[in-house]
Amino acid sequence: IVDVKGGPDEGLNRLDETLVVRGWVRTFRAQSGITFIEVNDGSCLSNLQCVMTSDAEGYDQIESGLISTGASLLVQGVLVKSQGSKQKVELKVEKLILVGTSDPSFPIQKKRVSREFLRTKAHLRPRTNTFGAVARVRNALAYATHKFFQENGFVWVSSPIITASDCEGAGEQFCVTTLIPSSRETTDSPVAAIPRTEDGSVDWSQDFFGKPAFLTVSGQLNGETYATALSDVYTFGPTFRAENSNTSRHLAEFWMIEPELAFADLDDDMACATAYLQYVVQYILENCKEDMDFFNTWIEKGIISRLSDVVEKSFVLLTYTDAIDLLLKAKKKFEFPVKWGCDLQSEHERYITEVAFGGCPVIIRDYPKEIKAFYMRENDDEKTVAAMDMLVPQVGELIGGSQREERLEYLEKRLDGLKLNKESYWWYLDLRRYGSVPHAGFGLGFERLVQFATGIDNIRDAIPFPRTPGSAEF
Ligand code: 4AD
Ligand code: MG
Repeated sequence: IVDVKGGPDEGLNRLDETLVVRGWVRTFRAQSGITFIEVNDGSCLSNLQCVMTSDAEGYDQIESGLISTGASLLVQGVLVKSQGSKQKVELKVEKLILVGTSDPSFPIQKKRVSREFLRTKAHLRPRTNTFGAVARVRNALAYATHKFFQENGFVWVSSPIITASDCEGAGEQFCVTTLIPSSRETTDSPVAAIPRTEDGSVDWSQDFFGKPAFLTVSGQLNGETYATALSDVYTFGPTFRAENSNTSRHLAEFWMIEPELAFADLDDDMACATAYLQYVVQYILENCKEDMDFFNTWIEKGIISRLSDVVEKSFVLLTYTDAIDLLLKAKKKFEFPVKWGCDLQSEHERYITEVAFGGCPVIIRDYPKEIKAFYMRENDDEKTVAAMDMLVPQVGELIGGSQREERLEYLEKRLDGLKLNKESYWWYLDLRRYGSVPHAGFGLGFERLVQFATGIDNIRDAIPFPRTPGSAEF
């Protein structure tokens, strides 16, 4: 007797075999002597219909009303072709063992529930079709990410979560505080263990064992140190932003993929970003068919053809200056006025990808120096930097990247100009002292990729446990 996992097509190869299935009851229906139990173990979207008659072992548990939606079961039976039209195969039950009953208060009953409601049940929402599918596609995207970079000779580097440096220089960091151990022993509340001054306010000098430390906003600077030793590398880990934005595209904690290419310029960077995105999209189209069909039917009609276009068509490339011209000529009235030097707002980004270029990904390059981070390489015009953003429909900015400033004197001048403390970037500047090379990289927000690939419109539904302002319950 073997376990069965996988979709109904795999099931067709296993007809007449005796199988054991472990899973959770999705629905349950008793009909004159026959009971139908839909069981799901999370391995695929489809439920396995288990058909049980009174001669099966364990039928008494059905009679005593112990089995209900949400309960966990172990079922043994023979896999047969289904009589019904809804499923290809079904399990003719020989034996049923109830593993865990489910209280009638189980909040996810058969009727469709809103995704807003499910956010308040983040511990149970993976038991729904939508969140099961999102979890599997997210997993496939992570696997394809490693596969792409590994097959192309990149080395995966773990960047630290606790750091003293602010990669983006935007001051959007969470501070790390060391709790006072003695207070922890005397109280249940970690809040009481936060070091305080005599007047009761938080003592910020008592941070990371006496030194300031923050949660990282990006692994890029650490990635650069390894790129200037191992050539092409990438990081893939959690990053944190203390920006108080309540939008459908921002999280306080999100995962970022950050490749860094040595001996490379902005063109190499854009080519890598394009090839990477096409690879992972193709991967899920080929390997997550059942889940993608589900998204295509229930979440965003036409998503499969939209994603197929991404794989097949070349992306639009334009300079920031051209993008501004295009927006100035647009008939649409924007809430935020457009002029050269302004940061592109999400309404502008959406107009560019969704209206001007009909849903095609767009890469915009050469942004004004003033609106971009300190590490980006200055272009010869002295006004712009070798930066690029990739914009996609629905999501807006999916990728932000740049060629890095590899010239020591330019970088120092830029840090001075921005009044950033050069001393704290001493090790980053060292990379320009010892064997500096042209190099470039980008960061892709993993949850925005999940949004783009599934059609899920709110980023809170693209990560298992979303962290947004004021929300860290689960
Ligand atoms: O454009 P960003 O800020 O660039 C960097 O952090 C660079 N250090 C990356 C690099 O060159 N290595 O962020 C990169 C991407 C954005 O394009 C977006 O997809 C995502 O990270 N991102 C967020 N995703 C969710 N919630 C947020 N608050 C995000 N902020 C950025
Ligand atoms: Mg950006």
